[in-house]
Amino acid sequence: MNPPDPRWYKDAVLYEIPVKSFYDSNGDGIGDLPGLVQKLDYLKDLGVDCLWLLPFYQSPLKDDGYDISDYYRIHPDLGTLEDFDRLIEEAHRRELRVIADLVLNHVSDQHPWFQEARADPASPRRPWFVWSDTDRKYAGTRIIFLDSERSNWTWDPVAKQYFWHRFYSHQPDLNYDHPPVREAMKEVIRFWLRRGLDGFRCDAVPYLFEAEGTSSENLPATHAYLKELRRMVDSEFPNRVLLAEANQWPSDVKAYFGEEDEFHMAFNFPLMPRIFIALAKESALPIRELVAQTLPIPASCAWGVFLRNHDELTLEMVTDEERDFMYHEYAKHPKMRLNLGIRRRLAPLVDDDRRVMELLHGLLLSLPGVPILYYGDELGMGDNIYLGDRAGVRTPMQWSPDRNAGFSRADPEQLYAPVIINPNFHFESRNVESLRRMPPSFLNWLIRQLRVRRRYSKVFGRGTIEFIDTPHPKVLIYRRSFEGTELLCLFNLARAPSAVELDLSGFRGYTPVEMVSEAPFPPIGELPYFLTLAERGFYWFRLDPPAASRPDDGPR
Ligand code: BGC
Repeated sequence: MNPPDPRWYKDAVLYEIPVKSFYDSNGDGIGDLPGLVQKLDYLKDLGVDCLWLLPFYQSPLKDDGYDISDYYRIHPDLGTLEDFDRLIEEAHRRELRVIADLVLNHVSDQHPWFQEARADPASPRRPWFVWSDTDRKYAGTRIIFLDSERSNWTWDPVAKQYFWHRFYSHQPDLNYDHPPVREAMKEVIRFWLRRGLDGFRCDAVPYLFEAEGTSSENLPATHAYLKELRRMVDSEFPNRVLLAEANQWPSDVKAYFGEEDEFHMAFNFPLMPRIFIALAKESALPIRELVAQTLPIPASCAWGVFLRNHDELTLEMVTDEERDFMYHEYAKHPKMRLNLGIRRRLAPLVDDDRRVMELLHGLLLSLPGVPILYYGDELGMGDNIYLGDRAGVRTPMQWSPDRNAGFSRADPEQLYAPVIINPNFHFESRNVESLRRMPPSFLNWLIRQLRVRRRYSKVFGRGTIEFIDTPHPKVLIYRRSFEGTELLCLFNLARAPSAVELDLSGFRGYTPVEMVSEAPFPPIGELPYFLTLAERGFYWFRLDPPAASRPDDGPR
């Protein structure tokens, strides 16, 4: 690896991978770590910088590995510790970083900690969990998995008490009021960082502590403990990154950056649904408003910007009206809904509209923060709403038109989930091999766009953003600036072409250069600058200064 810049993550593009879904190296129908190693060259070629692996630990897999029964072991379906070490080595050799999920809030009820705790009230493990004789404590706390859970308390017949859980009732919450729990999780962190992991995506962090009379979310004690983890990571493992999964309102998520002493990164959860609202309403406003609310953040911190991930498209942090609108626009079939969200992949969500796919990625790759891609979305992969829970967006990666989409040599019925055969999204045409062979494919388009972004990663990752007003409510325009490089990004959210007149008087004499083709547009003069955009079209321009004032060392 190059000498590490401690802020490397700010210039990165992340790629999210469930190991079981990516590539099966041993023909058992389940993706594995050696399989992922075989596909690192693909990821390098795609143009991402850092992989985020979903939980690969020992687990009964009732929540796809977010129910951990041993933090120190790899699930045997996925490989061994040696395979993990090899993955890190091979990824680093290619200058790819790797972060992994860290589930702090809860464990599986199969974890020996819980088994010991429930078996004996006098066990030293008993206080590792949150017990109660009634199910009425912490009544102000919402239920997250609304479709399956009726309470955050479940009666345990062995313990003869209720235990507390924010997610499934097989996922008892750890009791962070108990110091040994806090220490135990630090040891888990040390174990994996010592093996060379570059950081963690920290799952469900708002819920670590609970308190009567509150929502039991974002509590001061939770922030204090997270800061403790950050201190430890910074002092013992420099140049690693901690990414917060805190699905909260803007001001509450921002708090997870602390004063540069908590998380380096946090997912921009509030922005994500607003992108889809803006698209359906053909209005720039929802994105503008949200970006304004989520900035500024401390200099060393970064938003994780994403369109889709392995969960349902969450609608917890929108108004009731916005949620109804989203369901109406994007989840017409009841099976598309789950809890407070929509369980669909990106391409099906936007009716596989190529222009919209490009527009959304144009936004994703240019908004302030670190873009996070979800495996398969680069192919416009389909989903399967008839699989349970969130399994429909976690089907096997599609590598080729061969059996099982080239994902596995197993019998098709042995796959952990069926491949996508819906004619509109069939793997026979929607796979890496076929799409790479077709120059105009979405995959090739995205690879080109990622290469352009890489040349300007500092501007996109570290630069300022300024919105440019236009009387046209359907066109979103912003300027990204960093150390003398000026980029202008325009997005036409309308279903019809749009013409805009821009006040670019501050850039008189500059030439807008379209960044993918390097095609120069007419220089900016005295009059307002006039541009037309195709329906759902977008442009990224670099504003080149007049020759006389051109800096000679810009990233051009
Ligand atoms: C993960 C989910 C998981 C839940 C419980 C999350 O927020 O993203 O996939 O089910 O935590 O661990």
